[in-house]
Amino acid sequence: MRDMSFHITTFGCQMNAGDSEWLARAMQARGFSEAPFGQASVYILNTCSVRDKPEQKVYSEIGRIRSLTGNDPNVLVCVGGCVAQQVGNALFSRFSQVRLVFGADGIAQAPDAIVRLTRERFRRLSLVDFSAEYPEREGPLYAGTRVPASAFVAIMQGCDNFCSYCIVPYVRGRQKSRRAEAVLEECRAVLDAGAREITLLGQNVNSYGHDSGGMGFTDLLYKVAALPGLARLRFITPHPKDLAPELIRAFGELSVLAPRLHLPLQSGSDRILERMGRRYTRAQYLDLVAKLRAARPEMHFSTDIIVGFPGETEEDFQETMETMRQANFVGSFSFVYSQRPGTRAALLQDELPRKEKLERLSRLQEWQYAHAGEMLRALEGETVEVLLEELSPKPEAGLVIWQGKEPRGHTVNVTLTGPEPARGWKGSLVPAQITAAAMHSLRAEQVGEAR
Ligand code: 5AD
Ligand code: SF4
Repeated sequence: MRDMSFHITTFGCQMNAGDSEWLARAMQARGFSEAPFGQASVYILNTCSVRDKPEQKVYSEIGRIRSLTGNDPNVLVCVGGCVAQQVGNALFSRFSQVRLVFGADGIAQAPDAIVRLTRERFRRLSLVDFSAEYPEREGPLYAGTRVPASAFVAIMQGCDNFCSYCIVPYVRGRQKSRRAEAVLEECRAVLDAGAREITLLGQNVNSYGHDSGGMGFTDLLYKVAALPGLARLRFITPHPKDLAPELIRAFGELSVLAPRLHLPLQSGSDRILERMGRRYTRAQYLDLVAKLRAARPEMHFSTDIIVGFPGETEEDFQETMETMRQANFVGSFSFVYSQRPGTRAALLQDELPRKEKLERLSRLQEWQYAHAGEMLRALEGETVEVLLEELSPKPEAGLVIWQGKEPRGHTVNVTLTGPEPARGWKGSLVPAQITAAAMHSLRAEQVGEAR
């Protein structure tokens, strides 16, 4: 075990992935270095409770640390994120190595708390209170490190929508928008540190500003888009009910805004959408998709679907399938409904048998899988600009192949033929012609100079 070393395990969504990136930098700024699982003195579990058996997953991970480290009292386990918020101090009594618990807003203080705990052996700390405002963190902490070609920047925390199945408003708190100035400052810092692409993050990004009465989402988007050095801009996750006409217009006007939108549908049945409390209909959703396609014809859409919500009939499910075909999704994250304690949907009686839910899920995924393959094949021959992220994990003798993303977010393995640009391949944008589509990715060849 190395002293002053840490390991982070991340469960769940992009918000957590972004939080873990920040935590890693904050730990490094305090003199800690990253170590492989089993060799670190500090373990941070960044947890998620949106679906499945979240607590069990966390408990088994803590159990794994306990057995690998022989329950060493010098090993510090910190549990953060949604499960920590929910289970809270009960984690202390179950696991002696757990000495820090922090929730969505407590994360800002977590690195300093860890430093204190490594010095004061017998203390435990709990940071699970919600703050009234966006919990601004120290930053941007990029000095001396190189950010990835594509960086995440949080613009808000929490959610006010209370969709009937969802635990997020309870474990992440109510919506709190981050000050626009702080967002822009972080964006400038990641661009200065070498990022070319920024993804703005939030549970419900397009209601940004609704809570604070400050700048709205579209205005913020235009401000970020104008920052020098930015090549590509994305955001996740928007809610269809808040997708304003000016945001649709932005897709036509802002060339740096990537032609890809992840827009959660959840269900294609109006009856189920109503029970979910989503506040849009299937027709309204499809209308948004049509308008976005008119603004940006090359746009690709992806979505989230919950299968087997209480009371979902075969007809409701067929409506979801039909809507998916109409929206022409290139990808979807699909989940079987899982009951979350304390949510409104947990009070609904008619939950479906698990077998039925799984059977519907596999039909949906089968369609999506085949359809995504067709859509990728349709891209063969096109020339796209690829943002290079890392050497291809599948090298081929005699070739220089890098992996990156094209504007619609598809992974591309590009064979590089030109000279390496001054900034290096990582983070370079390379024009490339798509030569073949594999299951989940594309092959391409460089056809112009990298920038
Ligand atoms: N059961 C299944 N899926 C859920 N999601 C959120 N809550 C639940 C639940 N209780 C899914 C939604 C959401 C995604 C992040 O997780 O599709 O968009
Ligand atoms: Fe959950 Fe709905 Fe908020 Fe998304 S919009 S985080 S599904 S409550």
